[in-house]
Amino acid sequence: MLERSNELEAWDRDHFFHPSTHMAAHARGETPNRVIAGGEGVYITDAAGKRSLDAFAGLYCVNVGYGRREIADAIAEQAHQLAYYHAYVGHGSEPSIRLARMIIDRAPAGMSRVYFGLSGSDANETNIKLVWYYNNVLGRPEKKKIISRWRGYHGSGVMTGSLTGLELFHHAFDLPRAPILHTEAPYYFRRADRSQTEEEFSQHCADKLEEMILAEGPETVAAFIGEPVLGTGGIVPPPAGYWQKIQAVLDRYDILLIADEVITGFGRLGSMFGSEHYGMKPDLITIAKGLTSAYAPLSGVIVGERMWKGLEKGSDALGAIGHGWTYSAHPLCTAAGIANLELIDKLGLVANAGETGKYFLDGLKAALADHPNVGEVRGEGLMAAIEFVEDKDDRVFFDPARKVGPALAAALLKQGVIGRAMPQGDILGFAPPLCLTQEEADIIIAAAKAAVDEVLTV
Ligand SMILES: Cc1ncc(COP(=O)(O)O)c(C=O)c1O
Repeated sequence: MLERSNELEAWDRDHFFHPSTHMAAHARGETPNRVIAGGEGVYITDAAGKRSLDAFAGLYCVNVGYGRREIADAIAEQAHQLAYYHAYVGHGSEPSIRLARMIIDRAPAGMSRVYFGLSGSDANETNIKLVWYYNNVLGRPEKKKIISRWRGYHGSGVMTGSLTGLELFHHAFDLPRAPILHTEAPYYFRRADRSQTEEEFSQHCADKLEEMILAEGPETVAAFIGEPVLGTGGIVPPPAGYWQKIQAVLDRYDILLIADEVITGFGRLGSMFGSEHYGMKPDLITIAKGLTSAYAPLSGVIVGERMWKGLEKGSDALGAIGHGWTYSAHPLCTAAGIANLELIDKLGLVANAGETGKYFLDGLKAALADHPNVGEVRGEGLMAAIEFVEDKDDRVFFDPARKVGPALAAALLKQGVIGRAMPQGDILGFAPPLCLTQEEADIIIAAAKAAVDEVLTV
């Protein structure tokens, strides 16, 4: 067993190109090579037998928790029945049709069709193409720019990496590409003018957006994309009134709204969709992670009525749409999606995310908000973050070279809990499975407190 695992580690270091990993350090053996072998509920077990409470649900995606037989069985049954057929020129499979219907039943009012992809990144690529196609069909070929936000995360392809507003995903990749622009992040804790109230800061963000639209020319701006709650950019719920004020600006200049609900879709905020939670009125909604709880790779674009009418008009004028992937609406993945959504309903996980999320956030605040290096404890539903600062009163951030966030995540892991050091800032993020219980929330809180006490002794 030991020999075999040594061999596996050697193969991993020599041949496996890991995403989001320091390539050279990994090849040299300086970064962990942790092989995950199993999972049950909110726990995962690695090949060495170590069990950890996964308070990040993989990458905010294993929403129903690990080891759900219902989903595994649905995939197996579909594989026996029909492992694959494509969805081009009107073809399909029963689970794909059924899942499209289930998504529309759960989506905010006014949504019409679902296009299936495999990842959040490819779904956002689809969004960009649909927005451009739509404006070409409407005879306004100059209306093509897409405004995203600094600290937004929308994927890591060429165009979706451009939408993403994080340095790590741009640097040395020659991104962002035109015609993508970035406006102010709705990050109240990091606002430049600390005298602003939340509402004032929201107005400031809306004003900045409007300024950008006017400077670029409204006739050139096609769409605005945003996550209801900033995810990878720091787990930041929007300040009060933000989405209402943004929506008003978009309406004024006939600009489409893409709600990227890859994290928030299907319950994470305690509502089925973040768009409902914040009163957003999207034309397109990106979905992925929680759609199958990552039991199979599946994403989607939910297209609203207004856009769908334009797209139909386009194919009457131009013929079949030149867009599709071999694996669009893959039957194994859509079968997983059906079983997953049924499980979410059966277990009441949307309500649990709201209730246990509140319990969790209150507990984190009680345990840590008064710590001199804790600048903010924030969250919504089952998304939460602790942001660390060197000086609380003057809001002085740590020098990034000190890597306080990664040190805290490592100390948390020693306590048996997985959190995530968010990539920009010293922020410890949590997004546990939606089946989290209060007892499990208490374990995470106690581990977070112990990790902070270890790394930031005062
Ligand atoms: C909001 C959001 N959009 C898009 C993506 C990209 O999804 P994927 O990694 O499946 O390409 C992510 C991934 O974390 C995300 O959080």
